[in-house]
Amino acid sequence: MATTAIYPGTFDPITNGHVDLIHRASKLFDKVIVAIAINPGKAPTFSLAERVDLAEQTLTELENVEVCGFEGLLVDVAKQKKADVILRGLRAVSDFEHEFQLASMNRKMEPDVETLFLTPAEQFSYISSSLVREIAALGGDVSDFVAPCVSQALTIKLLN
Ligand code: COA
Repeated sequence: MATTAIYPGTFDPITNGHVDLIHRASKLFDKVIVAIAINPGKAPTFSLAERVDLAEQTLTELENVEVCGFEGLLVDVAKQKKADVILRGLRAVSDFEHEFQLASMNRKMEPDVETLFLTPAEQFSYISSSLVREIAALGGDVSDFVAPCVSQALTIKLLN
């Protein structure tokens, strides 16, 4: 049976931590859909189109990975894309409570889609998009945390 995983998030912007998780997932599933939420509640720095574009540029080498933007409920997109699994990353114990709540709510709404968790490699366990944005906005070097195209986009967006 072919399996499709959907990996949702805000990706503002995509970091090497996300990429590490997507690499791992691309070996485990036939297809991985990186689903970027519009998420107005987080007031993202990059527009949805920009976040999709940066993720596509960053993930271009992974043939079984597709990127899409979405508005509305994740479970609806998961169903529409025929995803079997919702994939989320757990970086630390502090992620668990929120993730447990999301997974339980999503299962209540759509019992056929399972949520699975992967942990990132140790060197990515402390990365977050907001810290990367903060470092970039203060003129720091973020090249260890994001792809070169993302680093360039951060400089243009935050330092000009
Ligand atoms: N590497 C690096 N950073 C990671 C990471 C990883 N592997 N995994 C998570 N993060 C970081 C993100 O960068 C982000 O950092 P930030 O808050 O500093 O920007 C943080 O962890 C969590 O963000 P994200 O993974 O984008 O999750 P989220 O909590 O912002 O988004 C959605 C959650 C989009 C999946 C959720 O809001 C959703 O499903 N929305 C659709 C609407 C819906 O269905 N709502 C009902 C839900 S029950």
